[in-house]
Amino acid sequence: MMRTRPLKVALLGCGVVGSEVARIMTTHADDLAARIGAPVELAGVAVRRPDRVREGIDPSLVTTDATALVKRGDIDVVVEVIGGIEPARSLITTAFEHGASVVSANKALLAQDGAALHAAAEEHDKDLYYEAAVAGAIPLIRPLRESLAGDKVNRVLGIVNGTTNFILDKMDSTGAGYQEALDEATALGYAEADPTADVEGFDAAAKAAILAGIAFHSRVRLDDVYREGMTEVTAADFASAKNMGCTIKLLAICERAQDGGSVTARVHPAMIPLSHPLASVRGAYNAVFVESDASGQLMFYGPGAGGAPTASAVLGDLVAVCRNRLSGATGPGESAYAALPVSGMGDVVTRYHISLDVADKPGVLAQVATVFAEHGVSIDTVRQQGRPEGDGDASLVVVTHRASDASLTGTVEALRKLDTVRGVASIMRVEGE
Ligand code: HSE
Repeated sequence: MMRTRPLKVALLGCGVVGSEVARIMTTHADDLAARIGAPVELAGVAVRRPDRVREGIDPSLVTTDATALVKRGDIDVVVEVIGGIEPARSLITTAFEHGASVVSANKALLAQDGAALHAAAEEHDKDLYYEAAVAGAIPLIRPLRESLAGDKVNRVLGIVNGTTNFILDKMDSTGAGYQEALDEATALGYAEADPTADVEGFDAAAKAAILAGIAFHSRVRLDDVYREGMTEVTAADFASAKNMGCTIKLLAICERAQDGGSVTARVHPAMIPLSHPLASVRGAYNAVFVESDASGQLMFYGPGAGGAPTASAVLGDLVAVCRNRLSGATGPGESAYAALPVSGMGDVVTRYHISLDVADKPGVLAQVATVFAEHGVSIDTVRQQGRPEGDGDASLVVVTHRASDASLTGTVEALRKLDTVRGVASIMRVEGE
């Protein structure tokens, strides 16, 4: 039975995503009402610049006073798509206090203050949903939180930033350097004028924190995530990767330790074999690979950004939250019962590709191999080639078996001290094998 009194929605932010949310709410109004069991009405839209023309939005709904909007008391759901920490955090908390549930796309806020926001939602018996905070349209939060609730997730490995995937894909397919590929990404609108959040891995690290927390039923905050950007990746790294049958991706990796007693979360560029499904994720697309005890390997793929794709995830949450309101229930809240500690990067175990410039003379290979052995790092392959400079030096590429990051760091520090090692040209982790 359809309820005739509409559920009221307050939209905070009407930019690229917010305007698409409003558009879909209007164009799909009948379908949304049928799916929810009641009509949904846009009751107010809070913006910073009220004079901007917003097609399809009744100007009488537009306000600059977001606080007054969330305090109205008749709002059922607040949709927060303004981003950033403040005023979003205060507005969400105020919304709970005044009886509304919240749908948010705010990865930075969830990664920093997710626990406090969940606690506020629980205190007021309201929902906090945020499918759109990670990888745009791709369903990830709900599959991890609900579909896999009966399984044990061991690893989440993903490309969760489209800008950097576009740049790395360009470098791979054209041989371009980082700056050239970034310039193209900027010209095509994939990279922002200030690309720091994307290329330095902050955006991906926030998403990794959210995914790790849900996957491992533990609290993982942005500060717990090890982060390395991709600005140092060179055309030479791609050439080395190709030699190994690999490509390079900026990966978010969340793992349960082998003994099950802790977890790690990290973001960094890594080589992955061309045979791995993530290697074929091209352009600005995102994909997340989930490994669980019972399900085995799952991959989620799709557009990770953009107005309409992100709005799709917001609308999915809006429907779920509205259904909960009608049935007088709330959906799943925070699940952090496992309370697994987050280990530092030193405990991560993986393989490494190390490129060294060395003196090309007798005994050097033995010296280098000894340093690896002394730190307990086992070598898988070694490849040496003379350098075109003809300066009597050679390039030595060492690929290791699995070793801890702490052991590898110790190895590299010792290698740097050898007179015969002129420099460490690059160190890259090898994942997905
Ligand atoms: N800037 C992000 C990306 C989208 O390039 O994927 C929003 O998280």
